[in-house]
Amino acid sequence: MTTTRAATATGTGPRRADGPRKAAGTAPYAYEYPVADLAYIAPVQATVARGRVLEVDASDAEAVEGVLTVLWHANAPRLEPDPDLSGLQRAAELAVLQSGEVAYRGQVVAAVVAETFEAAHQAAAQVTVRYEQFPHDVDLSDQRSDAVAPEEDHRQGDTAGAEPADVVVEHTYTTAMQHNNPMEPHSTVAHFDGAALTLYESTQGVHEVRRTVAAIAGLDPRSVHVIAPYVGGGFGSKGPLHAPTALATLAAMALPGRSVKLALTRRQMFALVGYRSPTLQRVRLTADAQGRLSGIDVVATVQSSALADFVEQAALPSKSMYAAPNRRMGHRAVHLDAPVPTWMRAPGECPGMFGPEVAMDELAWSCGLDPIELRLRNEPDRDPHTHKPFSSRNLAACLHEGARRFGWDGRAPVSAARTENGWRVGLGVAASTYPVVPPPSGSRARIRYEGEGVYVVSLGAADIGTGAWTALTQVAADALGAPLERVRVRLGDTTLPEASLAGGSTGLASWGSTVHAAAEAFRARHGQAPEPGAEAEADLPDNPDGDDFAMFAYGAQFAEVRVHEATGEVRVPRLLGVFAAGRIVNSRTARSQFLGGMTMGLSMALHEESVVDGRFGHVVNADFAEYHIAANADVEDIQAHWIDEEDPHVNPLGAKGIGEIGIVGTAAAVANAAYHATGVRVRSLPVRLDDFV
Ligand code: MOS
Repeated sequence: MTTTRAATATGTGPRRADGPRKAAGTAPYAYEYPVADLAYIAPVQATVARGRVLEVDASDAEAVEGVLTVLWHANAPRLEPDPDLSGLQRAAELAVLQSGEVAYRGQVVAAVVAETFEAAHQAAAQVTVRYEQFPHDVDLSDQRSDAVAPEEDHRQGDTAGAEPADVVVEHTYTTAMQHNNPMEPHSTVAHFDGAALTLYESTQGVHEVRRTVAAIAGLDPRSVHVIAPYVGGGFGSKGPLHAPTALATLAAMALPGRSVKLALTRRQMFALVGYRSPTLQRVRLTADAQGRLSGIDVVATVQSSALADFVEQAALPSKSMYAAPNRRMGHRAVHLDAPVPTWMRAPGECPGMFGPEVAMDELAWSCGLDPIELRLRNEPDRDPHTHKPFSSRNLAACLHEGARRFGWDGRAPVSAARTENGWRVGLGVAASTYPVVPPPSGSRARIRYEGEGVYVVSLGAADIGTGAWTALTQVAADALGAPLERVRVRLGDTTLPEASLAGGSTGLASWGSTVHAAAEAFRARHGQAPEPGAEAEADLPDNPDGDDFAMFAYGAQFAEVRVHEATGEVRVPRLLGVFAAGRIVNSRTARSQFLGGMTMGLSMALHEESVVDGRFGHVVNADFAEYHIAANADVEDIQAHWIDEEDPHVNPLGAKGIGEIGIVGTAAAVANAAYHATGVRVRSLPVRLDDFV
């Protein structure tokens, strides 16, 4: 690579700093660290959906050669009963083997630790658990008297039917239950020496793990060392901790001096690390004949868990999306005998933009308007929710640019108008948004000059495959005025300065701003010709504009859909997204983030659906043979573009965050294109061939 001066480092697309290590196999994931005195953990999962463990007979399991211990609630080490956890953690989910209560099918009720993987799994199959079984309830349906509103509805004006309307669109839209399935399943290697705990953990934030594990294990956080420089994806489920991390911690404490390993099987991923709740979205839009909205009413019913609360914020994005004098947005949660839901890429916005963006398409057809024109007519001049000005809002520019690139002008103004070789062809559009979220906690970065022009930048951030290694190198090089090759970044270890977790698309904005501040502090203290060993640290600076503006990224998603006349088979030969997400620091890794999000949105549109068997309470399609995920062959031409957007208010970098917005709106664009192709309106995801034949 040629030397790239700092002034040009951001905004270009240097190759991934961690790429050669990934390609050479020298970038280990948690499970791959060579540690001594290894033992393997095999969980035993509940076979009832609600009940109580009466007895665990481990005699057969203990007779298996190599078994070290069988843990269950009567003999497992105690965890702190009232852990001091941050708001995103669910204490009850982490209280593994602390009682005999079974809250969902698949919950950990025992675990075998053995000298080999094979012995652990063979013995786990021989553990006999006797239960007292209670009736269970795992079905989410629209009409439930036990659905609770977790907070007051957001209300403005009147949405009780008195708002003026020439046109009314009112339907229920549904999205499916989905499970986070990063390439690297959740895994932990834990070692406890009697005083200090070391965890190699697949996580979106090492410091969050340290804080939480220390709290539940009753340890001083300074005695907990968490290591995760390389992570094979998370999509949100590696933000909060889940039962497997607590189980590995327990097993390590039960066997001091041993290193214990737990990597979830793909099947276990469908029970133990959370999921995206299905949603039922009651959407009512009212408008005049020119398509100007008079009312927006969105009430989302979602599932939570009887074990601990997590409410998917599906009505949230509608609060700030379009202008209308009469508005209501609210949530209803049904507490089921099911695992606790969790973050999954763009929690809230991703499912929550499906119903409203399909409803907007329906409204456009009802008004005889182009769906782009309809959205332009309802652009708010300030945030309808907070009434603050937008720091920047370029949805209109995204729609225009996308229309130009996609060839929207040639689109037939009627549905079911075009057929090619037995395929009905249609084009659809939907809007996309994601907020500029305040980082979940502070961050701190250190910069040290090593001599010979080399700088080392340290912070405990996690690169979950997003490109943080690369982009932070660029930001530091820029701010230090140093060539890229002379900047070494250190990430993913609690011995480094504390960094916020990789969530809410905040990574680059928060860590980058922190690195930027540290570089400025370094130059202020040491000048342009530092001595070797010179150091400076800085914290994430406060944003002086943070309270004055509503801050969101926007996008426009376009899809071409083909539906086969005879079979109903659905194909998406073209997807095109245009985004306005502030400054793009690395065009190469940014494009990858957008395309990844859009592909996951396509996957949501056509494939992903976890199917629960109500009789037993578990997900039956818990593997990649039956839980389908979009692959390369599912999309022929997928493009991500962005507009140059300068936003001086969001943070010193002007970057809004791009990890999640790519998935938002994609599924609505696909459903809207399917309508244009066929005249059949699909309001329930995934879109399937039986919707059309
Ligand atoms: Mo992301 S789903 O906020 O980790």
